[in-house]
Amino acid sequence: MKTMTTNKQTPAPQRFLTGITTTGTPHLGNYVGSIRPSVAASTGVGAESFYFLADYHALIKCDEPARIQQSTLEIAASWLAAGLDPERVTFYRQSDIPEIPELTWLLTCVTAKGVLNRAHAYKASVDKNAAAGNDPDADVSAGLFMYPVLMGADILMFKAHHVPVGRDQIQHIEMARDMAQRFNHLYGEHLVLPQALIEESVALLPGTDGRKMSKSYDNTIPLFTPRDQLKKLIAGIVTDSRAPGEPKATEGSALFQIYQAFASGPETAALRQAFADGIAWGDAKQTLFERIDQEVAPMRARYQELMQDPAKIEAVLLAGADKARQLATPFMRELRQAVGLRRLAAAPAPAAKPKSARAGLPVFKQYREADGKFHFKLLDAQGGLLLQSDGFDSPRDAGKAIGQLQIEGASGLASLRPKLQPVPGVTEDAINAALQLLAPEVP
Ligand code: TRP
Repeated sequence: MKTMTTNKQTPAPQRFLTGITTTGTPHLGNYVGSIRPSVAASTGVGAESFYFLADYHALIKCDEPARIQQSTLEIAASWLAAGLDPERVTFYRQSDIPEIPELTWLLTCVTAKGVLNRAHAYKASVDKNAAAGNDPDADVSAGLFMYPVLMGADILMFKAHHVPVGRDQIQHIEMARDMAQRFNHLYGEHLVLPQALIEESVALLPGTDGRKMSKSYDNTIPLFTPRDQLKKLIAGIVTDSRAPGEPKATEGSALFQIYQAFASGPETAALRQAFADGIAWGDAKQTLFERIDQEVAPMRARYQELMQDPAKIEAVLLAGADKARQLATPFMRELRQAVGLRRLAAAPAPAAKPKSARAGLPVFKQYREADGKFHFKLLDAQGGLLLQSDGFDSPRDAGKAIGQLQIEGASGLASLRPKLQPVPGVTEDAINAALQLLAPEVP
């Protein structure tokens, strides 16, 4: 932190950032797990929130252009209808920020391929192929492989401190941290190390079949499905076969868990009592339907209005991109400068720090000539020739001579002189100074 610590200091605003892949229609699980808590958090003071539609990520999973577009529209409309205030937060579409793919490349170059090999999503595909006896990379795109790097760019571009995500994304946040660390190590402190934020209190919402509500299980209830459709889907929630009048267990009841995600404490207690008293499943479903509809109906009306006016949503997203790029454009300029993608007119700035202790030092180079003999030369830090040897019969002999020069310095140079050729314009002092730099450190 740049500010000095004083008693009156207000803490630097914490940045929250999260992305939503644009491949589906938001359902109640997305609402409870992500949209509702995010909108609530975004109204808090002292926080800066960034929400974006991860449409580049969507391309990794989906090759249907119409679906990408429709999903982008639906998700944007859902977040706005749920109360996200684009004046308070930065709400944008990933593909409107050209700096993100630009940063992706810089991060690609500091990310070990082996790390990406271990990413869960990629590994799962490879394991699946292996199990089926296929080529390990069958049907695996390089996009899937690079998924974590693109995600790293999303996060690091806006210096996010906290990234609210589901558990399945923790590994990606850790990878983004590693990328930031590696980049900072090489190029100076530019990137902020992010942290995953897992909302422990947010329950996983079960779907109509009792498993986690997820598009891949085909058990979802779309968030803004029309009222009669909502009723029908709720009627389809699996229950046991207990008859009216028989006490019902709340434990393991998908219906009860969904209710709990929408109801207040007293409302939940009342339904628990009704279960104990043997409420009929049909009545319980009606109670659940009314409760969800009560919360969703006003948002649904706004949603439908927004969906009638895609141009308005487009304008909101473009304004968000504008806001986002006010940060991204100068930051990318800084990062380009840091890695050496620079204007040539200005003299090269000196390196911030040598990458390793060896950078900027003289070097010995060994090589074999056409005569079959083994030679070496000593070059100064700028690549200028300092010493040139005659031919040795084996690489080992050449190596021994190099070792002697490194360890003995000036005296080694004197005794090896007969095997060395004079290099015009190079003084004995210059050679000795170079050898001194290469001398092994005495502990
Ligand atoms: N991979 C995330 C998901 O599938 C979506 C995402 C893309 C994201 N970029 C992000 C989430 C950056 C948080 C931060 O849920």
